Amino acid sequence: MLNDLAARLAPHYSRFRVSERLLLTGHSHQAWPDVALAGQIEAFEDAALEADGKWARAMAKAERVRAGLRGFLGDPAAELALGGSTHELVLRFLSALDLPARPRLVTSDGEFHTLRRQLARLAEEGVEVVRVPARPVETLSARLAAAAGDRTAAVLVSAVLYETARIVPGLGELAAACARRGTELLIDTYHALGVVPFRLPDVESAWVVGGGYKYLQLGEGNCFLRVPPHAAGLRPVVTGWFAEFAELAAERDGTRVRYPRGAARFAGATYDPTSHYRAARVLTFFAEQGLSDTLLRRVSQRQLARLTRRFDAFDAPERVIGRDRDAPLTAFGGFLALRSPHASVLRERLAAQGVLTDSRGDHLRLGAAPYLSDGQLDAAMDALGAEIAALGETRADTAPDGRAASGRRPAGRGTGGGTGPRALTVRRGAPAPGRSAAC
Ligand SMILES: Cc1ncc(COP(=O)(O)O)c(C=O)c1O
Repeated sequence: MLNDLAARLAPHYSRFRVSERLLLTGHSHQAWPDVALAGQIEAFEDAALEADGKWARAMAKAERVRAGLRGFLGDPAAELALGGSTHELVLRFLSALDLPARPRLVTSDGEFHTLRRQLARLAEEGVEVVRVPARPVETLSARLAAAAGDRTAAVLVSAVLYETARIVPGLGELAAACARRGTELLIDTYHALGVVPFRLPDVESAWVVGGGYKYLQLGEGNCFLRVPPHAAGLRPVVTGWFAEFAELAAERDGTRVRYPRGAARFAGATYDPTSHYRAARVLTFFAEQGLSDTLLRRVSQRQLARLTRRFDAFDAPERVIGRDRDAPLTAFGGFLALRSPHASVLRERLAAQGVLTDSRGDHLRLGAAPYLSDGQLDAAMDALGAEIAALGETRADTAPDGRAASGRRPAGRGTGGGTGPRALTVRRGAPAPGRSAAC
């Protein structure tokens, strides 16, 4: 049945031509189903019809988006503030912390650039930022908890690490440890939602950010901040006037800015609602197609197993390209991370063959998606095998002393039994796109 899923889904993605292309960028920007376009047109039509009166309809779309996200968070009552990017929402969160009283933030050195850069800048301003090594990931949660003392305002960490795809275990215990000390915990779920089931009740006291740009196929502008119940008394500095639409909480001091209850406390200001129109359609499509997070996880694990089997059959030397074999596939999120000093060269050469992947530092990342067939995955791996072999001929097989390195055999075709539609889908000479800005 999982085998047939791609055939059933692919026709719904005709605008992205998912059957004709090898989009191994499922971990970064999945294709949007065709209904997404209908959503965008609806946004225009509502604006044309109602002008400024469109906001009631736009707010209904935002509610649909919240409902869909709550489903993926496993909590129908989650309080969610929406925003264009996680960065915007992280700023609102940071602005609610009592940094003068607790001037320390604890994070890992494996965080996506949103946290990395912002926290680095705050460190320049005198905030004490402690970066705990992300490796070994098995003990990351415990080490974060240990680093978070009474002067720590917040711990900020991902549910799945964006470079290595490793799932961070023990977040429930970390949440409990933070709650005991009055430290806030913010979890970035961007690489979890829609591919690794994430359950809010397991981290009841945590703040959670994430978005729809990757596995959920919602496109840009669909990020959220889950506001935990204990945030009711916080006064974020960075909020917008939309925070005044909801019922205002009782404030004794009439001279101060007033805040509403719930997630509206963290609301922003005027935004482009087109994203929500698109997302509302896509979330309904997911529901109609039965694309629950548990099904998506099963599909992803099956596809990951296929990619790793094909990769292992290349038998490439570790120093040329390797993967983390210390943990079972169940310890990984939705992409295959291959470590190689040639990661960006491989990405470029694969793109020139029509196989779209991405690279981050020394990691080449290959992300499948539910609309990709086994044949397409095999074709992509054939191309990778050929490029690894080509690398070996030119330099990777050459040991530092100039002698040929041993322990490798020709990669690619003939290994793993793949018979993908190579002639159809792997195009030599296609333009190599520049490094994607996305993540
Ligand atoms: C783990 C993670 N968090 C967040 C983001 C996105 O951050 P932002 O919404 O601030 O651009 C990405 C990439 O898109 C990511 O990989």
